[in-house]
Amino acid sequence: MRRGIYPGSFDPVTFGHIDIIKRAAKQVDELIVGVLNNNTKTPLFLAKERVKMLNEVTKDIPNVKVIAFQGLLVDFAKEVGATMIIRGLRAISDFEYELQMAQTNHKLYDQIETVFLFTSEEFSYVSSSLVREVATFGGDISQFVPPYVVEAMKEKTNKGEYKKNE
Ligand code: PNS
Repeated sequence: MRRGIYPGSFDPVTFGHIDIIKRAAKQVDELIVGVLNNNTKTPLFLAKERVKMLNEVTKDIPNVKVIAFQGLLVDFAKEVGATMIIRGLRAISDFEYELQMAQTNHKLYDQIETVFLFTSEEFSYVSSSLVREVATFGGDISQFVPPYVVEAMKEKTNKGEYKKNE
């Protein structure tokens, strides 16, 4: 069985991520969406909230599983038996960081290969951080994220300010 991981912060998941998930799911038997639960960063959404959102927006793709992980991505890959990391490339500006990560991950675990998919043109400018910013100031984010996420963002933001987690 060919198992791949699509890792990320997904804070929140965007149409760009969903595009990559749909296309990556066709290339593997099972696609694990790995949601980073990193204690050193304070995300807008808790890992369990991000997992819930991803489960909701991928519920029609049968071979996708959403799992939160902590620590090194390669350790998570070993744990779930994945041999492929899938990442989306939006623009040349993504390349340097992605190359560094792919090479580091391969050094740490030589059984893992990183495969890049180019984000579809219509989503190439979409990022979670811009979605958060637009939402903070009350802008319309419905072109960037699915309706379920629009609602979750509305609950999380309060008159232009984030409601703090915890
Ligand atoms: O959506 P993002 O924030 O660009 O995803 C980055 C992610 C989660 C893929 C990366 O930060 C990661 O893999 N973190 C886990 C820790 C780790 O393995 N770091 C070394 C990678 S070279």
